[in-house]
Amino acid sequence: MTAASEAITNATAVVSKAGREVATQSQGRKDVRSLPPNLNHWYGLARSSAVAGDPLAVEIWGEAIALYRDADGIIHALEDRCPHRQVKLSHGAVVGQNLECAYHAWQFDAEGNCAEVPYLEPNQKLPACKLRSYPVCEQDGFIWVWPGDAALLDAHNEIDVEATIPAPLAIPEWNHLNYIATVSTIDCEAHFSFLIENLMDMYHGHLHRGFQAWASAALETLEETPDKVDALYTAESYYKIDKIWSISQLFFPALRRLHPEPLRVTYDYPNWTSSLGDDFRIICLFVPISSTHTRAHLLHFVSLNAFWRLHKLPVKFRRFVKDSLFGAAQKMLDGLVREDVVMLEEEQAAYLAQPDRRAYELNRACLAVQRLIIVQADSASTTF
Ligand code: FES
Ligand SMILES: [Fe+2]
Repeated sequence: MTAASEAITNATAVVSKAGREVATQSQGRKDVRSLPPNLNHWYGLARSSAVAGDPLAVEIWGEAIALYRDADGIIHALEDRCPHRQVKLSHGAVVGQNLECAYHAWQFDAEGNCAEVPYLEPNQKLPACKLRSYPVCEQDGFIWVWPGDAALLDAHNEIDVEATIPAPLAIPEWNHLNYIATVSTIDCEAHFSFLIENLMDMYHGHLHRGFQAWASAALETLEETPDKVDALYTAESYYKIDKIWSISQLFFPALRRLHPEPLRVTYDYPNWTSSLGDDFRIICLFVPISSTHTRAHLLHFVSLNAFWRLHKLPVKFRRFVKDSLFGAAQKMLDGLVREDVVMLEEEQAAYLAQPDRRAYELNRACLAVQRLIIVQADSASTTF
């Protein structure tokens, strides 16, 4: 029995003993807080706009990766470690199709082969060193990297059934003219399980009452599959975006009116998606850095679908409206993130100080999240 399976057994035992309402996480909690993510997925590591002329250093679960865009605009992902003196290649520069190290100007091609050493003597050959290169693609404004087993991805792609091919999370709202986007970055000293439980547990609206994000959540249904946890809450929203002036509710609290809306949150491993009624959609792209550090991109979309007159205007104008309103919810989104990060880091610190101390959990969605993290960690350990 693997450590992860053992944790699932313990977590299940606790749930049965306590009934579905009250459960402690006991041994299961301890394991969940240090389990690795399953890296055999696409991870949105950076905004596309963040990689222009210079390479960008990113990191996921201890792997340092240099992202760079070649002379043709194609994105590549290489291990961020020059094989010559082990310095970071991301400090270097792009030369044609290659990435050039800042130190002695060795160059590496997109496959990680050494392609150029400027001071090679006539009787010397290029060193046979090879850097790890990662499958990478761009979709919906983000750069997606597959940090796991590339052979597994190739095997998936050889099977001629589209449904079996793993794909980066689709974010159609990113380019769609009917959605206004806001992006916030989460950077917290906590294991990723704390962040996903926070995002799946809509009873923490209390923490954000000053920002009036949502109210009166009550869990209605919960569904679990090997890669998803889907929770549907009833809730109340402060905002209704149905008239053009109602956009101003985002800025003026006096214009907001509480009204019931369905609130759906989904752990679409390894990311999170949510919707509040028809007007709001929030997505969180996870980047687990280590067992005590998590980064994420939080994307907030306000729908303009209700404004049918707007849709008849020229695309150029609609693009102008979308671009001009980018970041409209920045203050609120950054505020929510700040409040959450304080809690998450306190949870992590308390856990590290006393890992065996029992925690109490009343929300079935959090227990389902823990089970999914364990299943995914188990599946990663049996794949390699
Ligand atoms: S350390 Fe990279 S070229 Fe020397
Ligand atoms: Fe929150």
